[in-house]
Amino acid sequence: MSHDGFDDFRHSMRRLAAGVSIITCGHQGNRFGMTITSMISVSFDPPSILVSLNKKSSVLQPILAESPFCVNILSASHRDVSHAFSGATPGADRFATGTWAIDAQGTPYLVDAEANIFCTLHDVLDGFTHQVLIGRVARSRHGHAVNPLVYCNGAYGLG
Ligand SMILES: Cc1cc2nc3c(=O)[nH]c(=O)nc-3n(C[C@H](O)[C@H](O)[C@H](O)COP(=O)(O)O)c2cc1C
Repeated sequence: MSHDGFDDFRHSMRRLAAGVSIITCGHQGNRFGMTITSMISVSFDPPSILVSLNKKSSVLQPILAESPFCVNILSASHRDVSHAFSGATPGADRFATGTWAIDAQGTPYLVDAEANIFCTLHDVLDGFTHQVLIGRVARSRHGHAVNPLVYCNGAYGLG
């Protein structure tokens, strides 16, 4: 076992299984999106969520500019979508992978996601390399089956 504090933390976090989502935003006619595992619910009344986004993330500035955003919870069949939105494909070309639509507010959403959580920005906290965003949920939609994509120990599935 490593004695380096950073390495210990990284290896500890590899043991936390997390659901995979794509956070998306439409801003000035452009689409932005990236893969995240940092989404959790905060409160149910009112409904709210939290995400932690690297300050260099391309989706961050559009969200901070108060464009509405969506957290699309992925199904186990969406590994290719997760891969495209985590750096394999640049910019808006990512939206060529998966079936995407745009809502009345201009926010892209994954049509066959496990669920789509549509939000507006409520608050922002400094998280060192990351910004922690709290989103107020405007509405959400979900499918019938429950078969989410899980990420654990640096790979998809529970291993
Ligand atoms: C499974 C998985 C989960 C990720 N979760 C996050 C996350 O919660 N926050 C984050 O800032 N980056 C996360 N990333 C990294 C971003 O998806 C990746 O850096 C992406 O390329 C950023 O988009 P950009 O290149 O358009 O800025 C994750 C990557 C993977 C593969």
